[in-house]
Amino acid sequence: MSCFYVTTPIYYVNDHPHIGHIYTTIVADTVARYRRLRGDDVYFLTGTDEHGQKIERAAAERGVEPIALADEVVARYHELWRTFGMSHDDFIRTSEPRHAAGVRVIIERMAAQGDFYVDRHEGLYCVRCETFYTEKELLDGGLCPVHEAPVEERSEENLFFRLSKYEQPLLDLYDRHPDFVRPASRLNEVRQFVSQGLRDLSVSRTSVDWAVPFPGHEGHTVYVWLDALTNYISALGFGSDDTSLYDRFWAGDDARAVHLVGKDILRFHAVYWPAFLLSAGLPLPNTVWAHGWWLRDDRKVSKSSGAVVRPEHLIERFGGDALRFYLLRDMAFGQDAGFSDEAFIERFNGDLANDLGNTVSRLVTLARRAFDGLPPETGDGEDSEGSLRAIAAEAVETFLRRMDEFAFHQALDALWRLQQEMSQYLVRQEPWKKLKDESARAEVSRVLWSCMEATRIVTTGLLPVLPEVAPNVLRALGALGADESPPTDLEAALQWGGLAAGGTLPAVEPLFPRIDKKAYLAEIVAAREAAQETQSMSESAEPDTSNASVDAAAASTDSSTETSVETPAEADPRIQIDHFFEVVLKVATVQAAEAVPKSKKLLKLQVEIGEDAPRTVVAGIAKQYAPEDLVGRQVVVVANLQPAKLMGIESNGMVLAATEDGQPVLLHPERRVPDGTRVS
Ligand code: ME8
Ligand code: MG
Repeated sequence: MSCFYVTTPIYYVNDHPHIGHIYTTIVADTVARYRRLRGDDVYFLTGTDEHGQKIERAAAERGVEPIALADEVVARYHELWRTFGMSHDDFIRTSEPRHAAGVRVIIERMAAQGDFYVDRHEGLYCVRCETFYTEKELLDGGLCPVHEAPVEERSEENLFFRLSKYEQPLLDLYDRHPDFVRPASRLNEVRQFVSQGLRDLSVSRTSVDWAVPFPGHEGHTVYVWLDALTNYISALGFGSDDTSLYDRFWAGDDARAVHLVGKDILRFHAVYWPAFLLSAGLPLPNTVWAHGWWLRDDRKVSKSSGAVVRPEHLIERFGGDALRFYLLRDMAFGQDAGFSDEAFIERFNGDLANDLGNTVSRLVTLARRAFDGLPPETGDGEDSEGSLRAIAAEAVETFLRRMDEFAFHQALDALWRLQQEMSQYLVRQEPWKKLKDESARAEVSRVLWSCMEATRIVTTGLLPVLPEVAPNVLRALGALGADESPPTDLEAALQWGGLAAGGTLPAVEPLFPRIDKKAYLAEIVAAREAAQETQSMSESAEPDTSNASVDAAAASTDSSTETSVETPAEADPRIQIDHFFEVVLKVATVQAAEAVPKSKKLLKLQVEIGEDAPRTVVAGIAKQYAPEDLVGRQVVVVANLQPAKLMGIESNGMVLAATEDGQPVLLHPERRVPDGTRVS
């Protein structure tokens, strides 16, 4: 039995959790459940990163102590993880004494190597990054390249870590263990960054109180990343009297440690963390797996970009498992993916409600009608065409391989292909036509049993993904008794032939009731409007226009996109041409334009788009364009967007603009064309 250690990043407590934090934690939970079902001894850790200036300031803004802010956000995390049925073994908070003990010990070990020295640090500091920048790294106007916000001049005595000393050891590590960073493309980025030369790293602050005191240097506190990264071992007891978990899951010969992170924090995990560990003479983790970003309207979902996706509504309506499924199925692990409510509903209705839920109730209903329960044994366990068993074996093999590779979307795809093969077989056999035919009894039994068996296998594969619902589906299929626990040996349970024959089968309850797409979308628009109103009342801020059909957000200038400097965004994913043609772009002439009361960004436009009447479109361009300059101009409009309400005005389209440094620059045709002309 091997020991498997999986971690999520520890999340900052200056913000409430959103879909991005949920995603990494769902992945970690799925991996943890999967490895347990494969017989590994698993330890799954998540937690919160509570120290540093960012948190200090967020707390000060709210007029509370940092620990009070942390407690509040931690409570949210606990509640959320409960609703998702997260199976973490521990939740570490960096404000805990056990963590500070680990930080002290790692620093003492690094100091013993002579890896720290004191120097004056003068430079330009971004608090949100908790990082110094050189002038060259800044954007025009001296803005932070990540947050596009002003940086601060700092001059202080700092302790420096001799990161440069570890340049070659790190390059050797990447060569010897190419699995240290996954996917491979990210390893190349990291290698390139290191081979350009590493500067020593300032690892203490004299201006931050909310932090771990730096051992041996009064007045200094520990830099937040040296503090935070150490959580992965302090949680295992490193630095305490009881190191049994540390010995088992970190230092043991058969221990495998995987850090799951977003690509935004890859550099910290793939460069700084192994350098700290090498310095301290401690074992290294096996793999840092950096996944891509969930995007909304092409921007990273994050608090600072303004494109937030909060999960409460989705969970309340559809349960945690539905969101787990969508997030794992719709992101190619490692790449970026767009979050959309429409795609969520389509996944739910297509894959869960139809392919799984309907199939199960159809099979069970047929079996109840034909045999008052489970179909009887057929002897050899083959289906009537003799091929389903082999197809299942192949699907299972692919599924396991993909799960081992963290290619969750492909693992699920393999299960769904089996489900489709089974459905087609069922349709070809038409057992419902033979229910009254006594002579066809054995044949009908064979067909139904093998279809139910294939579905049992698919559902068994879903156990780590849908921990709440999959056992219920197994129960509905008669594969699991009412009080029985799900199987614990996945590989065995995925073998063909596991479904008992005969016996009674209860009537099925609907497993995944279909979502009425139109009604649901209307519901979320209403919920968002309500949220916007409360927000603009409480913060007297512009509305958070994270709605997919609103262009004001894309044009907002004070919310910066959190693009990463160290790990440049993935090249835009390629799409099929028909995907593009789904978006109807048309030329329109602005007939009237006026400011939207109480908004600094929004203009209300009437545009002639070659229809019976002009359309109202709200656009976030007020800072750059005066209403009177727009009248008579031609613009390009997205014509088939769902209407969206902005500051109480219904917007029926979106005006296209190029965004330069956050400023919209309107697009127009090179010469006048009739209104309504399609752009393609
Ligand atoms: O960086 N898409 O904490 P954090 C996918 N405290 N994943 C996302 C995401 C998105 N749009 N947004 C956030 C920190 N995440 C540090 C970490 S670790 C020793 C210290 C996920 O609250 C993703 O895992 O900013 C990302 O790396 C993490 O949340 C950042 O969380
Ligand atoms: Mg962040």
